[in-house]
Amino acid sequence: MTAPIAVALDTPDLLLATRWARAVTPHVSTLKVGLELFYRHGAAAVEQARGDTDVRLFLDLKLHDIPNTVGGAAAALAPLRPDYLTVHAGGGAAMIAAAVDALPECLIAGVTVLTSLSEDDIAKIGLRGPSTDAARRLAVIAVDAGARALVCSPREVAVLRKEIGEGIVLITPGVRPAGAAPGDQSRVATPQQALADGADLLVIGRPITGADDPAVAVADLARSLAGPGGR
Ligand code: C5P
Repeated sequence: MTAPIAVALDTPDLLLATRWARAVTPHVSTLKVGLELFYRHGAAAVEQARGDTDVRLFLDLKLHDIPNTVGGAAAALAPLRPDYLTVHAGGGAAMIAAAVDALPECLIAGVTVLTSLSEDDIAKIGLRGPSTDAARRLAVIAVDAGARALVCSPREVAVLRKEIGEGIVLITPGVRPAGAAPGDQSRVATPQQALADGADLLVIGRPITGADDPAVAVADLARSLAGPGGR
């Protein structure tokens, strides 16, 4: 049994990303290739991360453009067989639907409100807040447009689960084991709390990849989720 964790391979160094991937893959269900690694190495990043394992591949490219361009970009990613692909829910229903149509096998995940944004940031952007309301509105748009997953703050996961019911994969970044540094994340929670609130997949980067030994850090984390208080 692997833990419901997507490890964020956030580095432009392909060798390092591959080392992290091999160290954590026995313990987690999913690897996440994001903008930093993908912009530098493209398809090779996905191929190296996956290796010859059957780990799930989360392409976190946060697409946000006109529907025709997003549909074309999603179609261009088809040979990589991503299990998840993120699009910004703020791009609107037609844009999300274009990604869904282009990659029917993949779970298109609508990013609601970035976990790095504080309530103050959200107000300044002009999103009608509080953040939970903004996330709820964006979640409904994404799911109605065909997204089968949502990315949200662990602080919002319980509200979204109630709003959209079962069957949609809720993915939460901004997860920090008790005592870990928040870094640039604002609306954070512990992994145990996020799972208890209804998250299906936890995105965790620096607390694992920044550890002295990522393999040990991820194994500890996986164990803590399987024990009392986890699941
Ligand atoms: O290192 P850390 O655990 O903060 O990594 C979080 C990861 O989740 C990063 O790869 C970031 O791009 C991603 N993410 C996020 N907030 C979102 C969506 C994705 O932090 N709303």
